[in-house]
Amino acid sequence: MHLTEILLNRRSVRRYTDEPIPEETLREILTAGLLAPTSRNLKPCRFTVVRDKSVLEALSQAKAAGGAFLKDAGAAVVVSADAERADTWIEDCSIALTCMHLAAAEASLGSCWVQIHLRRDPEGAEAEENVRRILGLEDRYRTVGILALGMPAGSAEPHKPEEADFGAVRFAD
Ligand SMILES: Cc1cc2nc3c(=O)[nH]c(=O)nc-3n(C[C@H](O)[C@H](O)[C@H](O)COP(=O)(O)O)c2cc1C
Repeated sequence: MHLTEILLNRRSVRRYTDEPIPEETLREILTAGLLAPTSRNLKPCRFTVVRDKSVLEALSQAKAAGGAFLKDAGAAVVVSADAERADTWIEDCSIALTCMHLAAAEASLGSCWVQIHLRRDPEGAEAEENVRRILGLEDRYRTVGILALGMPAGSAEPHKPEEADFGAVRFAD
C-alpha cells in the first residue's frame, strides 16, 4: 500500500476477534515504533508489550473512560519514555504511537490509541500512576498512551480524500 492509501484506510478500531496476532505482524509494528524519529535522536521510549489477559484487563481500568476495550485486545503496546533523558518525551512517544498505528493499518490489523497521560480513573487517581503500578515502571518513565491491537471484528469505513479540510490551512506567504 502507498502511504496515501494507508492514511485513508487507517481507522481507530476498538472491536477485535479472538484470533491471535501473528508474531511477525507484532514485530513489524514494534519496528515502526523503534524506527520513529526522536528529538536529538535520544530514543527515550520504552515499549511494553502486554498479552496477558489479566494485565490487559487491569490496563482497561486505568482510566475512567475510553479504554475499556483494552480488555478484549489481542495485545497492547504501552508507550513510555525516560523523561529524565528527553524533555520531548510526549512528542517522542506520540510519534512512536502514530507510526505503530499506521504500521498496524498497513498490516490490516485493528488498533486504537488509548490516552493515558493527563487522564484519571473514576476515583480521581492519575491513569499514569495506575499504569506505573500495573507494569512496575520506574518513576522516571512517563506513559503517554497505549496502542490496543487486535484482529478487527468487522470493517470500518475508510476515510475519503474530501475529509481533508483545507479550511485549517493558512498560507502566510
Ligand atoms: C492523542 C489521541 C488520543 C486518543 N485517545 C483515545 C482514547 O483514549 N480512547 C479511544 O477510544 N480513542 C482514542 N483516540 C482515537 C480518536 O478518538 C480517533 O482517532 C478519532 O475519533 C478519529 O477516528 P479515526 O482514528 O477512526 O479516524 C485517540 C486519538 C489520539 C490522536
